[in-house]
Amino acid sequence: MFYTMRGRWVTIGHLEANDMPVDEPIARDVGAWTLEKLGLLQSYMKSYVEATSSIQGKISYLDVCSGPGLDRVRETGEIHPGSPLIAMGLYPRLNNFVFIDIDKKNTHALRDHIRARELERTARVIEGDCNEVISDALKLIPDRYGAAFAFIDPAGLSVSWQTIKAIALHKSRATYKIELFVLFPYDMGIRRFFVSGREMNDVWPNAEAIVDRIMPDTRRWKRVLQEVEAGREPRDTLRQRILYLYWRGLKDLGYAHVASPRVVRTPNGRPLYHMFFTSDHPVGDRIMTHVLHSQRQLGETFPLPELEMPYSFNEDESWYDRL
Ligand SMILES: C[S@@+](CC[C@H](N)C(=O)[O-])C[C@H]1O[C@@H](n2cnc3c(N)ncnc32)[C@H](O)[C@@H]1O
Repeated sequence: MFYTMRGRWVTIGHLEANDMPVDEPIARDVGAWTLEKLGLLQSYMKSYVEATSSIQGKISYLDVCSGPGLDRVRETGEIHPGSPLIAMGLYPRLNNFVFIDIDKKNTHALRDHIRARELERTARVIEGDCNEVISDALKLIPDRYGAAFAFIDPAGLSVSWQTIKAIALHKSRATYKIELFVLFPYDMGIRRFFVSGREMNDVWPNAEAIVDRIMPDTRRWKRVLQEVEAGREPRDTLRQRILYLYWRGLKDLGYAHVASPRVVRTPNGRPLYHMFFTSDHPVGDRIMTHVLHSQRQLGETFPLPELEMPYSFNEDESWYDRL
């Protein structure tokens, strides 16, 4: 499928000709590094549908910050399928889609994509704040049978821990939980509040409450920060320790496998966010480990930085127990 952008033809991923509902698509402007995240999602989801093919019942995909369906790469003008279209590209093996977005423009664009694919009976769009509508969304995902995968790709600090927890606990009567692929916005979000020698709420109004909402508990991250501020821990351990708390929170939700996070960086090496994968199933874990250790990206517009797996977490971090 080709599309004219800025006077030239570009390929749109795996989309087919009749998938495009409008001449001027509504697309989200993104940095080229977004293709790395979407490449990983696509690789994982392809293997996921293979692995779940023998499971009875619906195979569900939940996207809590779904965007309009298409992404336009700022640097090149190329348009790529965003997470909802990557997922719908795996129909009929994925056969239950739930999309949430807070922005009306995005939900309208998504509904157009769904109509163009005649998936109205299979794909539902909920417009609203994902933290408020998550229970409505989860009602559309069977809690006992089938398998489910959730993609949590927030813009900044918009997804609360309570929302992650609600998704993780939804299938508590089933053998396996909903698998999660969560983007944790440390560098693009939380980090700006942590300014040496300054009270957080002076840096940004309500900063403490914002971080409380994102983190698994309201105590430990503050202790970590206090230790750094008091000079008992080096400042350059802050990122890793906050990431560890998030990783540990996911473990404590009961997931059998929580991979160490993979960092996504800008071309000049600035870290942007960290990606966490959780699974309850050994096969999910194997696929996830393979995908996280591979260089994956949609398109060829932007070379990936050298693959980096900086953190390797396990549960014997003794500092955690002292917090
Ligand atoms: C990073 S984008 C998602 C991109 C998408 N996954 C893709 O691949 O194109 C984040 C999206 O979350 C939406 N959003 C922001 N805050 C939200 C909230 N509280 N609840 C639901 N959606 C939200 C924004 O409108 C935006 O479309």
